[in-house]
Amino acid sequence: MKKVWDGRIKKHLDKDAEKFNASVSFDKRLFKYDILASIAHAKALYKAKIISNEEKNKIISGLKLLLKKEKKINWSKYEDVHSAVEIELTKLIGNTGKKLHTGRSRNDLIATDEKLFLKEEIKMIKKLLLNLLKTILSLAEKNRKNFMPGYTHLQQAQIISVSHWLLCYFQKLKRDYELLIFIEKRMDHSPLGSGALAGIGFNLDRLYIAKELGFKGITENSMDAVSDRGFITEFLYFTAITATHLSRLAEDIIIFNSNEFSYIEIDDSFATGSSIMPNKKNPDIAELIRGKTGLFYGYLISIFVMLKGIPMSYNKDMQEDKKPLFDAVDEMKSILLIIEKFIKNIKFNTEIITRNINKSYMFAVDIVDLLVKKGLPFRDAHFITGQLIAYCVKHNKSLKDLTENELKNISKYFDKDIYKLLNAEDSVNSKQTYGSTSEKSINNQIINARKFIKDET
Ligand code: ARG
Repeated sequence: MKKVWDGRIKKHLDKDAEKFNASVSFDKRLFKYDILASIAHAKALYKAKIISNEEKNKIISGLKLLLKKEKKINWSKYEDVHSAVEIELTKLIGNTGKKLHTGRSRNDLIATDEKLFLKEEIKMIKKLLLNLLKTILSLAEKNRKNFMPGYTHLQQAQIISVSHWLLCYFQKLKRDYELLIFIEKRMDHSPLGSGALAGIGFNLDRLYIAKELGFKGITENSMDAVSDRGFITEFLYFTAITATHLSRLAEDIIIFNSNEFSYIEIDDSFATGSSIMPNKKNPDIAELIRGKTGLFYGYLISIFVMLKGIPMSYNKDMQEDKKPLFDAVDEMKSILLIIEKFIKNIKFNTEIITRNINKSYMFAVDIVDLLVKKGLPFRDAHFITGQLIAYCVKHNKSLKDLTENELKNISKYFDKDIYKLLNAEDSVNSKQTYGSTSEKSINNQIINARKFIKDET
């Protein structure tokens, strides 16, 4: 098959080498962006008086026509999307098409296409993430008066409101959202006009091209521009950390949904059954979110490994950046879409949770705090409360079951005022610090979260 470099390389490329070398099967996804970049480039060629107005118009209308004919292109004939566009354009408009590649290289073109693609995808991912944040926030607003055990080491630790648990995820995902905005800003520089690596021998107005393409600015160094894939790495890091947070949420849901916990119930429309065990209702959606998280780490690592040893500047290794990028974009969008619908439909079994809280020993810190307020040193208060809990465990009693006599027998410092501590709402509201689980703090967290959402919408 005819190649763009046939003037230099005299033999036809070996059939298998040709297949191995080609990226068209996946980079054809960049077709639209390659056309947009080409239109902007043609305009700049005209502005620099390299092509005539007529040639520019011919090229642009040819490119626009080509965009409509995407489905008719026989992609397998081409090495990559760039040669496909150039050759197909030439077929459409004749020899003028051959002028399009003046003053550019596939090296600055691919970096531009990828940035254009990613900028558009980031916009969609931001929408999906913001939607998820909204859903988490509205669940948090509804659950201010519902309580649950908070865990450390997966041991019941202290009572929290369900809102506190939800807002914990809100904060993590909000940081991810802010990170994405930061990444979006950092990548907003057009590489076009950098050429192969050294710049272009024509006076192309790079700022004009950037503006045409919606970039905020232009890259500073042509060698950096064609060799940089930091913007992809940063995006993949964003997907990795976001997936990590979603995986932890999924894991919480899986645990809370187990028969042993039964704190929450997954809606039937998001649960799957077993082919053999009629009793099963499985949280497949949450498990898949947890399972897919590993993919994102893989995508990130593969780009790092691809980049770390290649000499400046462009090397063909970099062609391999597309599969992880495309897969990460697709997987992230599908996870964000599904988890939002999934959590919107979960039900909290407040009765079971309350029963669990009441027979738990999670009031221990509240008891310690009470003793400290009465003047006992913290360490001593901790010790005797520990004895109190050990007594309860030994005699299989809840704190509520203890008689005043039993309390006094354990320590003279214990009094019946302890009974007043033993309810979830007071326990939660006894927390006084900024950011705590108390209702006052939750209300404040919700106000700030609402403001954040409003500013972003
Ligand atoms: N398909 C190539 C890639 O994705 C385009 C750039 C090719 N450049 C080159 N000098 N062979 O990286």
